[in-house]
Amino acid sequence: MDGTLASGKGTIAQALAKAFGLPVLDTGALYRGVAVAVLEAGGDPGDAEFAARIASELDPATIDDAKIRTATAGAAASRVSAHPAVRQALFDLQRRFAAQDGGAVLDGRDIGTVICPDADVKLFVDAEPGIRAERRWRELQARGEDVALDTIVRQLAERDARDAGRETAPMKPASDAVLLDTSQLSIDAAIGKAVRIVSERTGAK
Ligand code: DC
Repeated sequence: MDGTLASGKGTIAQALAKAFGLPVLDTGALYRGVAVAVLEAGGDPGDAEFAARIASELDPATIDDAKIRTATAGAAASRVSAHPAVRQALFDLQRRFAAQDGGAVLDGRDIGTVICPDADVKLFVDAEPGIRAERRWRELQARGEDVALDTIVRQLAERDARDAGRETAPMKPASDAVLLDTSQLSIDAAIGKAVRIVSERTGAK
């Protein structure tokens, strides 16, 4: 599963995992974990070598969920994720997760294109930028981060452009991905649609 920021993909991935009894990996959390570790070590997210070393030493179990969910961590994650060496360092871990017996749900930006090109079902989740910005704003408000809506609109456009424009594993729908636009859908409706798509494609219930 891939998709844009605040499209609902994370929530949908968790719900799909629950519905089909599968383990789920939020791969964005790995890049965020690397980003936070780089910042905490006083490093520069633009330093590919440093970020790749941190990525190769990353223990997913030590990722602090509160720390990685900030806007700063997200922006730095987008930057470290543009380095091919960082992506390479996180590749095996993601592949191993995906190859578990019985299957798995992974969500990110390059799952359908790079990590799991042979996935049984590929979903690409998106929504209109204005709607995503508002969702993100509400999310940050709920977490006590008071960021102006127009700042979020700008940051979102920057993030999309960087994630989709990088040379290595850019965010894009796989050619065989099903597109799910959540602009006009409640989260429950979006989950319902995703569950139907997976059931139809795999025969799983
Ligand atoms: O989904 P997210 O917002 O938690 O992801 C944070 C950043 O990590 C995102 O801007 C791009 C990067 N990322 C990536 O390049 N590849 C992935 N599979 C997942 C995330």
